[in-house]
Amino acid sequence: MHIASVGVSKFCFLFSLAFCGLLLLLIPALQPPARQVDLPQPRPQIKPTQAAQSHHTRVPAVSFHAGETGLATRLNGSSVGLGGSVETEVTRTDKRGVDTQKSQERGALPGRKAGGLLGSTSHDPLDLKDIFIAVKTTRKYHKSRLELLIQTWVSRAKEQTFMFTDGEENELRTRTGANIINTNCSAAHTRQALCCKMSVEYDKFIESQKKWFCHVDDDNYVILPSLLRVLSSYHHSQDVYLGRPSLDHPIEAAEKVRSDGSVSVKFWFATGGAGFCISRGLALKMSPWASLGNFISTAEKIRLPDDCTIGYIIEALLEVSLTHTHLFHSHLENLQKLPTDSVLEQVTLSYGGFENRRNVVSIVGGLSLAEDPTRFKTIHCLLYPDTDWCPKPKPRHNI
Ligand SMILES: *[C@@H]1O[C@H](CO)[C@@H](O)[C@H](O)[C@H]1NC(C)=O
Ligand SMILES: *[C@@H]1O[C@H](CO)[C@@H](O)[C@H](O)[C@H]1NC(C)=O
Repeated sequence: MHIASVGVSKFCFLFSLAFCGLLLLLIPALQPPARQVDLPQPRPQIKPTQAAQSHHTRVPAVSFHAGETGLATRLNGSSVGLGGSVETEVTRTDKRGVDTQKSQERGALPGRKAGGLLGSTSHDPLDLKDIFIAVKTTRKYHKSRLELLIQTWVSRAKEQTFMFTDGEENELRTRTGANIINTNCSAAHTRQALCCKMSVEYDKFIESQKKWFCHVDDDNYVILPSLLRVLSSYHHSQDVYLGRPSLDHPIEAAEKVRSDGSVSVKFWFATGGAGFCISRGLALKMSPWASLGNFISTAEKIRLPDDCTIGYIIEALLEVSLTHTHLFHSHLENLQKLPTDSVLEQVTLSYGGFENRRNVVSIVGGLSLAEDPTRFKTIHCLLYPDTDWCPKPKPRHNI
């Protein structure tokens, strides 16, 4: 019995030893899967700031992006149809319901909330005559720049195009019949002088009763059919501020209109050199900060140039977002990069100045680079081949 019990305990001891050994052998086999679960998994690298930026910088040439708080998100994407319901490059989300309450425009007071964004269907399509086009210039460019504009696109929109300058110009006015307005502003290229002109432009637009205000520079070609097509996808009683942002990020400035400047505001603005458009509904709301010289004092408060001040009033004070478009172009861009087949679809074009003469759009027509260094005449002849000074088109087979 004793021996037997010793034998049993010995057996037990050996068995436990063997069991422990087996366990020890099993541990490494069991461990790896357990450890794998605990290992931190590599995460996809997301950089939100970059993603947000690329949204604004790398948009295709023919699309519009409205800001997050923009009209596109506040309004229904479904279009009620505007006259002929024109198809444009505007993306689906930018097509919006159309308000046609004409009375709203007449009754709209500056600063008053324009309601009535949903209304009945409009049956009067936008006409070129409804657009007020302001061209900012200075007396030293009357001969070199204005002449070219008057000869080309302005000739197709003479009544509604106004050139805002800083000197008298009777010869050009009487010879061409162009609307040339002497703003009496200084000819200096200073913030004050530029804002002075913008202030006169604004007042003249309000006075004109037209539906859209578009500002361009004297080195811009306005492709009128494109402008009409783009503006036709909006309604003038909506809050629309359309243009090309000059930076890929919003500008930051000290808020000195509503506060003492200790707070800063961020806002986008459309670069004036590429041109921009503002609906009448929105322009009326800008009145407290823009009309009758108020524009100059607003600009002085924030100490920013004219186009930034427009952005400040609209984005920071009225909280309406700039609708970003890449159809407007300034001389600061590489214009040669524009695909030739898309040139005539753009809204505004430009050309490099003295410092960069070769920065012009690449387009082929009946006029050589020597005959037409800015390419504006070539563009004009492609758009309006019936123009008397255009080279006679060679017999062409229509596609
Ligand atoms: C918005 O549009 C959708 C269809 O696109 C429609 O079903 C819906 O009723 C519209 N909403 C409003 C508020 O108009
Ligand atoms: C500029 O001055 C002239 C002469 O005083 C005046 O007739 C004209 O209306 C002024 N222009 C503007 C835009 O105020």
